[in-house]
Amino acid sequence: IRFFGEKKILEGKKMVITAGGTVERIDPVRYLTNDSSGKMGIALAEVAQSMGADVTLIAGKTSVPVPSGIRVVKVESAQDMLEAVMERFDDSDVIIKAAAVADYRPLERAQQKIKKKSEEMTLTLIKNTDILQTIGQRKTKQFIVGFAAETENVEEHALDKLRRKHCDLIVANDVTQEGAGFGTDTNVVRIYDAAGLVDILPIMSKLGVARELLLRIAERMAKGAE
Ligand code: CTP
Ligand code: CA
Repeated sequence: IRFFGEKKILEGKKMVITAGGTVERIDPVRYLTNDSSGKMGIALAEVAQSMGADVTLIAGKTSVPVPSGIRVVKVESAQDMLEAVMERFDDSDVIIKAAAVADYRPLERAQQKIKKKSEEMTLTLIKNTDILQTIGQRKTKQFIVGFAAETENVEEHALDKLRRKHCDLIVANDVTQEGAGFGTDTNVVRIYDAAGLVDILPIMSKLGVARELLLRIAERMAKGAE
């Protein structure tokens, strides 16, 4: 109802959106995760669907429920998320990676609850595969959008990620800014493409950011198809 009257500018587009934080198991009762609420990815899924897209939301841990009426694939770890994305990759027209993927996972996952022993313990972590980079390398027709959460040198880091991961657009947010980042209902973002800054958006709701971003995606896809 919120999007009544939204133009169907993404009609028929197959879209995969990732949201939330990944959960990296240490043992059966413990894990590593992050503060991602999933709100940005969920907002994108809702608005994209209202614009006519055929949306699949691949969701890690979220602190808010996913609205009914959205097709959701629940995943736990970064490895699960990679598999879920790759399964749908060939068929997708647009992939938006709003999820906060853990950069590292425990090297070993204990089958039993780890018992406390010595005064110190060391947990060895190993790097997770970069999902965005993996799909960027395999990109054929897909329009790929990444996110970058930064605390400093936002533009430099965002553009570096965009180039390394072969994204069409990257949405950067400076998480030190009031109203931006994890858990909030608002966001403050800048959008970049390979040539540099595309847009500076003022503070707005995550639904508003989703709408602005999806309008630009639709516009660019239409131009690319001309
Ligand atoms: N990403 C991903 N797979 C990973 C890590 C990140 O797909 N293993 C994606 C995120 O979903 C996001 C983008 O890459 O769309 C940027 O994530 P970010 O954490 O900002 O960048 P990193 O490349 O992980 O670099 P760093 O954390 O060192 O800043
Ligand atoms: Ca990271």
